[in-house]
Amino acid sequence: MQELKIIGGKPLYGSVRISGAKNAALPALAATLLTDGVTTLSNMPDVRDIDSMCKLLQALGARIKRQEYSISVDTRMVNKWNAPHELVRKMRASVLVMGPLLARFGKAEVSLPGGCTIGNRPIDLHIAAMKKLGAEVSLVKGDTHLVSKRLSGTHIYFDRPTVTGTENVMMAAVKADGKTVLENAAREPEIVDLAEMLSKMGAQITGAGSDKIVIEGVQTLVPTSHKIIPDRIEAGTYAVAAAMTGGEVSLTDMKPEMISSLLSKLRAAGCTVSETDNSITVSGKPPFMPVDISTAEYPGFPTDLQAQFMAMMCLSNGESVVAENIFEDRFKHVPELNRLGADIVIKDRNAIVRGVNSLTGAIVTASDLRASASLVLAGLVAEDETRVLRIYHLDRGYDSMDKKLAELGADIKRTEGPNP
Ligand code: UD1
Repeated sequence: MQELKIIGGKPLYGSVRISGAKNAALPALAATLLTDGVTTLSNMPDVRDIDSMCKLLQALGARIKRQEYSISVDTRMVNKWNAPHELVRKMRASVLVMGPLLARFGKAEVSLPGGCTIGNRPIDLHIAAMKKLGAEVSLVKGDTHLVSKRLSGTHIYFDRPTVTGTENVMMAAVKADGKTVLENAAREPEIVDLAEMLSKMGAQITGAGSDKIVIEGVQTLVPTSHKIIPDRIEAGTYAVAAAMTGGEVSLTDMKPEMISSLLSKLRAAGCTVSETDNSITVSGKPPFMPVDISTAEYPGFPTDLQAQFMAMMCLSNGESVVAENIFEDRFKHVPELNRLGADIVIKDRNAIVRGVNSLTGAIVTASDLRASASLVLAGLVAEDETRVLRIYHLDRGYDSMDKKLAELGADIKRTEGPNP
């Protein structure tokens, strides 16, 4: 099993190109199933979750061609509609094929999802919405079977905003009879990107990016080409890394407005951030001013940057409170950060972070994607050597993180660790 060895204490300098957004690329791949032809997606990140989604599409009969950062999906031979358990188990976003398969074939069989261990993550809202669109749903040996001769436009109110739920239902409703209205829909930039791609395919969608999305169903969708938006979570992670290490890093090919909640917190912590339309330059130096964060749906502070910002707050000169409101069990990084010398106490859904003067290297274990990133950031500033084990979590969502950090001056090496 691979691990990262990091010798902390090197400030990061230079510039790093931000990759395409994993969380936009995954629904875009699923959306190719809606058409009968070849769709080409560019600016695709080279991460494990994309490999998993490609495998899933291939298992359904699609043909995939990858060239650098572009992926072409030929969906003419797709002749299956079941997402097998061994693939869904590895990646929760596999559930995104449900909407397109139902829209195209009138049936979909999807196993209950796995993915990051960040709490109970049901798909009840996806299923309830598919039922409202007219799907009959049954549970067969752990797989959810959905069948519908024709989906019919309807009014759907999400009890809480769900990102993949909104995407899944959008992809089902684009070919339904009549009008579908989604209320309390998620507003993330990845939803807007998917709506743009679907519109290029011929779908009629308005309101994406607001909490009310209106979809007029159409008979046919056609293949298209689409460039994926930049990864706001990757950008946020490098912004925090630059500040934590006392360096100065420019992030290019990104959209600053997509992480404005983070940038305002960085400024409040004493960092300097300058912005252009498609880049930012971040510098900072510990000790930071203590800053509280409270995760929320977009445009609030993203839960996917909570662990990284907490790592930074370990080096503040006071006490900060990190409130996690999206997932109930997303503090798995806390005991590991404490092993590096942090002082963090969990109280219900809050983590109380008391700043310390320095962190010290240790062996830590990654438990989920963003928790892994926070351990790497902590390792970059910890004295001596930090070994981050189980970095396959990191590889699910960060394109060449070790290489990008090394190019910025970090002392970081990927090694084959001992087998467990
Ligand atoms: C997506 C992102 C993930 C991010 C999360 C929140 C992708 C591939 N993943 O995950 O990186 O952390 O948004 O920004 O885009 N919920 C239910 N029932 C449902 C669906 C969700 O109760 O049917 C709950 C979840 O348990 C969670 C909350 O709603 O508490 C939000 O989850 P959701 O937005 O659905 O997250 P994902 O789409 O899985």
